[in-house]
Amino acid sequence: MNVSVWKTKVDEVLKRSGKSKETLLPCLEVIQEACGYIPQEAITYLRENLDVPSIDIYGVITFYGMLTTKEQGKYVIRICDSLPCYLNKSDGVLGVIEKELGIEAGETSADRQFTLEVVPCLGLCDKAPAMMINDKIYGNLTEQSVKKIIAELNC
Ligand code: FES
Repeated sequence: MNVSVWKTKVDEVLKRSGKSKETLLPCLEVIQEACGYIPQEAITYLRENLDVPSIDIYGVITFYGMLTTKEQGKYVIRICDSLPCYLNKSDGVLGVIEKELGIEAGETSADRQFTLEVVPCLGLCDKAPAMMINDKIYGNLTEQSVKKIIAELNC
């Protein structure tokens, strides 16, 4: 990722909202959106510009599930394994995704197309088992339907 892309966006946030602790989350969000993750150099930049210790920055990243310091694939698949989804066979759906993509939960494919994560409740329990791919929601998944969804992403 070109540093100037996220830096330009962060500088816009700082100009608009000022350099304060309260600006940290909006800055992290624009970096995540621009890069797909929060690179180390961005954390250093925020530490220096917002005067916030690294430990606080990592704390915010850890707290918000959509923020990550790990480089991710083009498609980030988040499948829920909380009880309602589990009872509706989310483990079988996960197994199909792992087999189709050749990666396990927590991994990113070598071509950086896919990152697969198992996450707690997405708030879509009425559609269990459910998952998100980037910002898109998929519910009432079956082993057959998830195969089709993955195949469409691979096109
Ligand atoms: S338990 Fe899976 S979305 Fe809520």
